[in-house]
Amino acid sequence: MEYKITKAAPEQQAAGMLVLGLLPKLQPSAAIKRLPPQTQEWIGAILKQGDLPDKAGKSLLLHQVPGLKAERLLLLAQGEKAQISARDFLSIIRSVIGQAKATTAKSLLWSLDGLEVAGHDQAWMVRQIILGAETARYQYQATKGSNKPDDKQKLKKITLQRSDLISPSQCEQLINQSSAMAHGVALARELGNLPPNLCTPSYLADQAKQLAQAHDALSLKVLNAKEMKALGMGALLAVAAGSAQPPKLIILEYRGATEDSAPHVLVGKGITFDSGGISLKPGAAMDEMKFDMCGAASVLGVMQAIAELKAPINLVGIIAASENLPSGTALKPGDVITSLSGKTIEVLNTDAEGRLVLCDALTYAERYNPKAVIDIATLTGACVVALGHHASGLFSNDQALTAALTASGEATHDRLWSLPLWKEYEEALESNFADLANVGGRSAGSITAACFLSRFTEKYPWAHIDIAGTAWISGGKEKGATGRPVPALLHYLLDQAEAQP
Ligand code: BES
Ligand code: MN
Ligand code: ZN
Repeated sequence: MEYKITKAAPEQQAAGMLVLGLLPKLQPSAAIKRLPPQTQEWIGAILKQGDLPDKAGKSLLLHQVPGLKAERLLLLAQGEKAQISARDFLSIIRSVIGQAKATTAKSLLWSLDGLEVAGHDQAWMVRQIILGAETARYQYQATKGSNKPDDKQKLKKITLQRSDLISPSQCEQLINQSSAMAHGVALARELGNLPPNLCTPSYLADQAKQLAQAHDALSLKVLNAKEMKALGMGALLAVAAGSAQPPKLIILEYRGATEDSAPHVLVGKGITFDSGGISLKPGAAMDEMKFDMCGAASVLGVMQAIAELKAPINLVGIIAASENLPSGTALKPGDVITSLSGKTIEVLNTDAEGRLVLCDALTYAERYNPKAVIDIATLTGACVVALGHHASGLFSNDQALTAALTASGEATHDRLWSLPLWKEYEEALESNFADLANVGGRSAGSITAACFLSRFTEKYPWAHIDIAGTAWISGGKEKGATGRPVPALLHYLLDQAEAQP
């Protein structure tokens, strides 16, 4: 999709669909007042009929309006408030894009004049429109067989107009960043959606290889089981022990800043299928545990976007990839394993495997002397109980990192909400037979999981993002990966790049 942002008055430009907003009480906006008198009368008469309620997001699609070059005109109500809520604006985006796509319009020209979103600026509005348009474009195809949906996209161009526009260079940067963000989201969604018989640890490693081949600034290292064993990654290997698919530790290094600039490190949970292992999960919706590699997918999405943008930052992506399956060679409850850190772990539940693969990857991250490490994981069902599907759980040993990530979540509407990591919670992980156990009790499950990880991240500023409730949409028609938290992470990293001397 081609995007353009312009100051030029939209009324008399050609377009497949022109979108003009009305002011509160359905009053004509400045753009409408600049239309030829006959057009204004036409619109006035239609509004008088009362088909368009004055509620934010309601709209009326008109064809062949006299005096307009555009083929269609979409009139958009904004409700009684001068500033609309972020939530209403997001539903307006879905509605406008959906209506444009339902026609044969090739181009959309949207006047944002007069539209104000409470608490957010123009950049936010533009970013959300581009993300919304790209989200609507994505269609899963890979394994649809003869049932492949038609992927010919008629809508090819979106022009956003605003008279009090931010500077042209800012606009260009905004379009580039939002497009790269959207491509990263699309990659993360696609990988998440692929079935677990295709998307294995080796497949993830292949994807990382393709990324590394496409971008000079990216280099790849993949550790196999033998190499992990030599290093002492007993926790990751214990999870892989039940599976016929070989595990992979995938390391992508992006160099966009000088060598002496400490890298940011992202660590992704890449369980390509989580059956629970010997502590087998119940059968209902177990297929959705193919999404247990969405943390890994988000790391690849962010790496791709950062490389595409040639961001001036150093970044390392580490993916701990394995299946979690039961078998005669599988990890058992009661087993005590030795992690890369040297700490021993009593495995009380083999379904708490994410923290086991992550702890070794987090210890591995120490060798980079990182500026900060962020791990992303579909870690606990308890996080879904705590926060539902609107916010990812955020845990950190660093206040500045918490604040920056929270702000980036707000700025992208890919929200993160902080939960505590108090020492009191750690007591739940005490073990009679090892340095720590891999599960606490029933209460505060997402916090005790994060506490477990915190025992392996003492050497650097660290944040853990639990995306169990946000990485995919369950069941139903919309079932599929969301690509979260690619937007929040990318926004955070681009901010960091900007702040760099
Ligand atoms: N991948 C799951 C977490 C999960 C479950 C995410 C459901 C999204 C939806 C993770 O490996 C897991 O099984 N966690 C257990 C931990 C428990 C055994 C302490 C859980 O959440 O039940
Ligand atoms: Mn599990
Ligand atoms: Zn899992």
